[in-house]
This record gives sequence, C-alpha cells and structure tokens, in this order.
Amino acid sequence: MERKLIIAANWKMNKGPAETVEFLEAFLPGVDAVTDRCDVVVAPPSVSLAAAGALLADSVVALSAQNCSQFDEGAFTGEVSTSMLNELGTQYVILGHSERRSIFGEEDAVINAKVRKALAADLKPIFCIGETIEEREGGRLEDVLRTQVRDGLAELSAQDMNDTVVAYEPVWAIGTGVTASPEQAQEAHAFVRSLLADLFGAEVAAQVRIQYGGSVKPGNSAELMGQPDIDGALVGGASLEPDSFRALIDNAFA
Ligand code: PGA
Repeated sequence: MERKLIIAANWKMNKGPAETVEFLEAFLPGVDAVTDRCDVVVAPPSVSLAAAGALLADSVVALSAQNCSQFDEGAFTGEVSTSMLNELGTQYVILGHSERRSIFGEEDAVINAKVRKALAADLKPIFCIGETIEEREGGRLEDVLRTQVRDGLAELSAQDMNDTVVAYEPVWAIGTGVTASPEQAQEAHAFVRSLLADLFGAEVAAQVRIQYGGSVKPGNSAELMGQPDIDGALVGGASLEPDSFRALIDNAFA
C-alpha cells in the first residue's frame, strides 16, 4: 500500500503571530514542488493560528493546532474549542503529545475524548504515543504502546481511523538530539501497525500513516523515512527555521 508521506512542524510554545508570518513568507515559496509526494503541515501555537490561517488559505500547506478542548463551549477557562479551530481554517490537531501527557497530566481517557471531539468537527487528529526510557529498558515498550493505542483510540470507527494520523515519538528522543535508530523506529512502527490491524482490520491499518517524531533533522530524515512503516515525521526543533524544515522535507525523498 502506497502511503503519502506527511511531515508536520510542531512549533510548541514558539512563534507568536509576527514570527509565524515571517516563517511562512520564507517557507512557502517553492514548497508546492514537494507536496505531490508529501503532505506538509504546520502547527503554530493557538494565538498564531489566525495569522497562519490567513496565509495558508490557498496554500498546499495544511494548518494544525497543537491541542483542543474535549468540551464544546462554556466555562472552561484557557481552553480552545474545535469549532474555534474550524473557524480559523485548521485541518489537523496534535493530541496526546508526551508534553501534554507528562507536564499537563493528560491521560488516555482525556486524550480519547479530545480525539473523538476533533473527528466530530472534521479535524484530523495527529495522535501521539511513545514510551519513556525507563519503560523501554524495563521491557514494557509493547505494553505501553498497546495501552496508549487501545485507550486513546477507543470507540473510533474504521472511517475515523482513516482520518487519523499516528505519531510514534519515543519520549527519550524528543528534544534530546538522540534519535531512535531506523531499526528501532521501524520495529515500533510495525508493532503499532499490528495493533491497529487488531483493532480496525488489516485494510485500515495498511493505510494509516504513522509518523516518527523525536530529534528528526535534515541529516537523518532520509534513513528514517526510508523505513517501510515510517510514513512521515513530527518535527519540533528542526522545524523552527524555514531552511532546516525545508531541507528535512527534501532529504526525506533522498
Ligand atoms: P523534536 O520534537 O523534533 O524537537 O525532538 C518532536 C516533537 O516533540 O514532536
């Protein structure tokens, strides 16, 4: 099954509206040369989505949020709803990122509620999973991924799963400069795909795109993207400069 690559920039808490515009003005020219082979997604902080949305309205680059509320509207101080994201032209939303899990205490049930709320609003979840170094070294990699996939994707239909991107991000590789080896990443991706096959059937599992995340850089994107079950990347640090993000994308086809 031919799966189109999907490479997404997760800017985390970086770039207000002015810097977002500056980045996109430098990054957008010429990017259409790659988008027949690779979907390109940019996820600015929520306060910068409007500025990005205005520039991306007619662009081949898709807009993603980094989070959404599991509630519709009302007394939820500090939260952003899916309908607000719709209004800004948002197409994707990153959910279950390890920073949301570990720093903000989001558990699988909350992440699942957010995933289902996003899908109901026609937003495509970029659903993140991954193990800590203690879990990996303690032999619990498969158990951790199994629980995160089963509970985070509970109650999704096959159609929902078709609209969902999974991002495997080993926590020990995020922002550390230490990347999983292509073999380690491929092994985890193949395992995640087998979990998806158990839950949603082989046909759905074969078409779900599974991104790798964790210190992806221009220098390692080729060997990672060359693995059979790695269908793209979720990129933090190396997505903050237009030239580096573009080189990482170009090298993915090398
Ligand atoms: P990194 O972050 O590329 O800086 O390791 C990846 C992520 O957290 O999505």
